[in-house]
Amino acid sequence: MGYGPGAGQPGQANLNKRSKVTHLTLRSMKEQGERIAMLTAYDASFARLLDQAGADVLLVGDSLGMVIQGQDNTLPVTMEHMIYHCQAVARGVMAATGRAMVVGDLPFMSYQSSEDEALRNAGRLLKEGYAEAVKLEGGAEYADLVRKMTRIGIPVMGHIGLTPQSVHALGGYRIQGKTDEAAATLKAHSRELADAGAALLVLELIPSALAAEVTASLPIPTIGIGAGVDCSGQVLVLHDMLGITRGKLPRFVKNFMVGNDSIENAIRAYVAEVKAKTFPDNAIHGY
Ligand code: KIV
Repeated sequence: MGYGPGAGQPGQANLNKRSKVTHLTLRSMKEQGERIAMLTAYDASFARLLDQAGADVLLVGDSLGMVIQGQDNTLPVTMEHMIYHCQAVARGVMAATGRAMVVGDLPFMSYQSSEDEALRNAGRLLKEGYAEAVKLEGGAEYADLVRKMTRIGIPVMGHIGLTPQSVHALGGYRIQGKTDEAAATLKAHSRELADAGAALLVLELIPSALAAEVTASLPIPTIGIGAGVDCSGQVLVLHDMLGITRGKLPRFVKNFMVGNDSIENAIRAYVAEVKAKTFPDNAIHGY
C-alpha cells in the first residue's frame, strides 16, 4: 500500500502527480491567506479539466439534480446518484494530476432521519464514491452528527445560509441572515459546527459583511457562494460559471466564458480571480 498523493484512489498507479489537497491543506491555506478555489463537478471529463486548471476542491453537489438531471430542485437526488457521480469525478481527478480534493454532497433525506443512516450514507460516499469528505446542509441541529462523522474519520463540510434542500421551508431561494437576529443565529450555527469538528463551512447567499465576520471568527475555512469576497474561498456551480445554465442567473454568478476562448481557460480565469480576490466583486456580485 502506498501513502503518496492519491494513494488508495481508484484508477491506475499514480505516477508523477501533484500533492493531494486535504482538509488540512485548506486550513493552512486559510492561515496563510491563500484563497481556496472550489467548483462543482459531476463527471470525469470536467473533473479532469478542473483538476488540471488548478481548482483546489471539486464538490459533487446535489445541484446535479438541476444541472444534470433537469429537475426543478435538488430534492429528488438519491444516494445512488451521488455515488455514481462521485466515482466519475474521482476517476477524472486521478486521470489528471490527482491534486484536487473531492467532496460529496449528502442528498436530501440521506442524513435527516437517523444518525445511523446518516453515518452509513456518509461512509458510502467515501467507500463507494471515493469522496474525501462529505457535505451536509444545516446548522447546530447537526453538531452531534458532525462530531460523530469526524470521530470515525469522515471530514465534514457544513453548509449554512441558503440551504437549497430546505427550499420549501425557506419559501424560495432567498438571501439569509439579513436581520440582526437571523445573523446572530447563523453565527451561532457556524460556531457550533466548527466546535463539533466540521473541516470546512459553505456560506450561501448571506450578506458579505456577515460572511466576513463569520470567516474571521472561525479557525476553519469558509467557502462562499453569494457571500462576498471575504470568505476563505469561493464556489460556483460549474454550469453557471460556464454560461450553460438557461434563464436568469443569481447576481453572484459570473460567466467566465466571456473573454475566454476555451472551457479550460475559463476555469483557469476563475481560479486566478478567486486567488487574486477579484472574484467576487462585492459591488457587482455581492449583497
Ligand atoms: O449542490 C451544490 O452544488 C452546492 C453548492 C452550490 C454549494 O451545494
